[in-house]
Amino acid sequence: MRELTREQKAELEDIYQRFLHDEKVMRMEEIQMHRGSSCYIHSFRVAKLCILKAARYKRYNMQNLKDVLVAAILHDYYLYDWREHHELKKKHGRRHPLVACENAVRDFNIPKEVQDIIKSHMWPLTPHLYPKTKEAKLVNRMDNHIATREALTFRAFKKKRHEKYLKMISHLFDK
Ligand SMILES: [Fe+2]
Ligand SMILES: [Fe+2]
Repeated sequence: MRELTREQKAELEDIYQRFLHDEKVMRMEEIQMHRGSSCYIHSFRVAKLCILKAARYKRYNMQNLKDVLVAAILHDYYLYDWREHHELKKKHGRRHPLVACENAVRDFNIPKEVQDIIKSHMWPLTPHLYPKTKEAKLVNRMDNHIATREALTFRAFKKKRHEKYLKMISHLFDK
């Protein structure tokens, strides 16, 4: 178990809040993910779970934590609704990590380490894009976990219930 300094927590919180209120990122609010969430909520949910796990371990240095956070927020930044595009339905699972990565490079100029995490988040559906680093493996696993829970929920999406995902992340580090 590790303790982040106040400055480190503030730095991560700042990244989280900047993306949370970014108009480009907020376009994901319009895109339905699974039954119980929008793409926006799903992404911040995955980001919170990833950072909660990663912040506990010393083997994740500060740069690793920042990469995990940004990649988790942008891992589904593909910005289209596959339900509205018949031709995309079949390909969506394999294609969207690459589209999300391309969009994230265009809009946020993300580094190679973050790009690799985004590209491999759907493995094993994309056998050639194996998550090689611990950061990529973490985002891959947590996304899978959250996606399964969202897909299995019978509760309809309610904005209020999800507000807790749209607040701070700093408190997670004190648990
Ligand atoms: Fe995805
Ligand atoms: Fe996802």
